[in-house]
Amino acid sequence: MTLPPSTLSSSTAPLVSVRNLKRRYEIGESEFLALRGVSLDIREGEFVALMGPSGSGKTTLMHLIGLLDRPSGGQYLLGGRDVTDLSENERAEARNREIGFVFQAFHLLPRMNLRENVEVPLLYAGLPPRERTERAMTLLGKVGLESKAANLPSQISGGQKQRVAIARALAAEPRLLLADEPTGNLDSHTSEEVMALFHELHAEGRTLIVVTHEPDIGAHAERVVRVRDGQVESDVTQGRPSVAGEGVWPSR
Ligand SMILES: Nc1ncnc2c1ncn2[C@@H]1O[C@H](COP(=O)(O)OP(=O)(O)O)[C@@H](O)[C@H]1O
Ligand SMILES: [Mg+2]
Repeated sequence: MTLPPSTLSSSTAPLVSVRNLKRRYEIGESEFLALRGVSLDIREGEFVALMGPSGSGKTTLMHLIGLLDRPSGGQYLLGGRDVTDLSENERAEARNREIGFVFQAFHLLPRMNLRENVEVPLLYAGLPPRERTERAMTLLGKVGLESKAANLPSQISGGQKQRVAIARALAAEPRLLLADEPTGNLDSHTSEEVMALFHELHAEGRTLIVVTHEPDIGAHAERVVRVRDGQVESDVTQGRPSVAGEGVWPSR
């Protein structure tokens, strides 16, 4: 299969590097600083849980890292490339190529079957139909849902929907997988299944950032970044604080 090549440099730069990142929201006449200067490096292959109370800025930060939004201040390097001030189109292009998203509410397209849902990012990537279908079926197999490929989203459970959403997020082979409260709509048993899938992806060397306010979920990650009031409160890797700019152990 041929997908457009990544424009990220292959140097040893962190995959995600943000410095003093700010996001200000205008609310009528007043404004609110949702991110107050966040600095963070995330290396290829890391599995990071982004935690913190509701309203602390997790989603805002994830949207900036995912190039769904642009910062009000600070700098963002994605794979060594400065993406702070990209145009709308450039951001969309970089996003489609480099980033896969998983959301709390799944966001599957209701009138498309599961295979077609997984194929959506491959349409953007310009893959021919046969290769799209092959790849979608492989990914559905990976998440254990090959036999349901022709079903509609309304015909499967919440946990299954999230697994389809993960397959879709992986379709275009992104360098970075972002998940915002991916288990927020799931019961604890199904949550564990989804987390097991994230573990598997991490073991394959993928880079994952999972936003969650559930400690059980955070315990699955090898690094926990806590956000409070729009700032990084703590950043702990496997029980030890990680030093900014320090190289992270090789992935398994
Ligand atoms: N579009 C917006 N306009 C105004 N305020 C916003 C907007 N989005 C988020 N906020 C505010 O920014 C803060 C952080 O929100 P968010 O990033 O969604 O937090 P979290 O994901 O940690 O719950 C909250 O106080 C929220 O009310
Ligand atoms: Mg949120």
